Amino acid sequence: MRYFPAFFDVKDKPVLIVGGGELALRKARLLAKAGPRLVFVATEFDDALIAEFGQSAEFLHKPFAAVDTDGDAVLVIAATGDADADEAVAFAAKGAGVPVNVVDRPELCDFVVPSIVERGDLAIGISTGGNAPVLGRQVREKLEALLPQRLGGLVSFAGSFRDAVTAKVEPALRRRFWENVFSGTISDLFLSGREADAREEMVAQLNRPQDSAKGFVHIVGAGPGDPELLTLKALRILQEADIVLHDALVGNGIMEMIRRDAERVYVGKKKSDHSMPQEDIGTLMVKLAREGKRVVRLKGGDPFIFGRGGEELEALKAAGIPAAVVPGITAATGCGAAASVPLTHRDHAQAVTFVTGHAKGDTDPDLNWQALADLGHTLVVYMGVGTAGAISRNLVDAGMAAQTPAAIIEKGSLPEQKIIRTRLDSLGADIVTGGIEGPAVLIIGDVAAAADGRGLVDLAEPQRMRA
Ligand SMILES: C[S@@+](CC[C@H](N)C(=O)[O-])C[C@H]1O[C@@H](n2cnc3c(N)ncnc32)[C@H](O)[C@@H]1O
Repeated sequence: MRYFPAFFDVKDKPVLIVGGGELALRKARLLAKAGPRLVFVATEFDDALIAEFGQSAEFLHKPFAAVDTDGDAVLVIAATGDADADEAVAFAAKGAGVPVNVVDRPELCDFVVPSIVERGDLAIGISTGGNAPVLGRQVREKLEALLPQRLGGLVSFAGSFRDAVTAKVEPALRRRFWENVFSGTISDLFLSGREADAREEMVAQLNRPQDSAKGFVHIVGAGPGDPELLTLKALRILQEADIVLHDALVGNGIMEMIRRDAERVYVGKKKSDHSMPQEDIGTLMVKLAREGKRVVRLKGGDPFIFGRGGEELEALKAAGIPAAVVPGITAATGCGAAASVPLTHRDHAQAVTFVTGHAKGDTDPDLNWQALADLGHTLVVYMGVGTAGAISRNLVDAGMAAQTPAAIIEKGSLPEQKIIRTRLDSLGADIVTGGIEGPAVLIIGDVAAAADGRGLVDLAEPQRMRA
């Protein structure tokens, strides 16, 4: 982030705008919404500027002089449209210690004016650090379309109840009280134009006894890694969490989506690093929920696909803790999409099977090889990096063709993604040659011949998809 976002309080304070033309007018319009005392300095002023600000602003008809920045101005805007004149304004302001913005000259600016989305007191500033103003404008348009026009009114409405809420709701329950206001009936009433009903409901809720601590646990699937593959529900719950217990498979992009003030606890789950035993994770979730916290148990992929989500849900139910599961995109479908492999296909795969390649000690994975070797389905192996050689040997011994197409997809959907397009009997060797460390899935079956995309490497010639 090149610029630190901050909001200036300029209400009733002098802001000096040097310039009298179109540029000065545009900046003045933006600033005027925050209620400053505008002072313009220029030898000439456009009629449009006078028409719009003639009654409210002060006009100094004279050439700019460095002493103009020595007064009590809290901000200076250089908008003369003349490079040398703007530079002189910038140096004078810097000399006087007043933050300055120079139109279209970021190198001379102490602050930049972002694209603004405004709904009353709700103001959102968007900056791309000067790198992509068009993208900034597109983001602004999206936000404009997304945010209801009455949102500003809702901010003022909430402001009018601030003192009453502080007096009636104890501090530990306040955040949740406001969350209920903004995501429940009260905001629905207000935003649909029924302000009086919203006010009545607010008063009723304030007079009701506030809930004593009542926690909740959400077991949330984070998907394969790309934050854009999170569900909307998962995102909302991450934004409301008090505490998040997360796995190793949950990457930084997803962690950034968590409410900034929420506590984060790493509970491990890399193959060789069980930083917290499963029973302790259950005990911790129960304890935190009993303290009244909104707990999120955040897991890679989908919690119910090789994720122990079932065991965790049982532990919560046994302890009488209210809980819910939010599904995530599992590695098989996430990697299938990332590598352009359709897991089912009318002509090539009428079923798809997910198995774990995990094995105890030195043994081969304990799977029904005969059933898995049958044609007509796609086999997706999770946790099979260490056992890929054994898996391919067992499948070939059970009758699957050695040259059956196969793909290895490592870190699917993430920037570091690798795809190896190969064949069944080469899987074990390819893991080594391709430097695959995981997490990775193996996709075995005709459809794997279609593997393509970012990070693709071809290692062995597979049988082509049957036409
Ligand atoms: C303990 S399992 C958890 C699976 C997870 N619950 C899911 O639904 O994807 C871990 C395995 O998922 C697979 N996996 C998870 N994320 C992956 C990714 N981004 N790319 C490839 N494989 C992934 C790997 O096989 C890894 O060993």
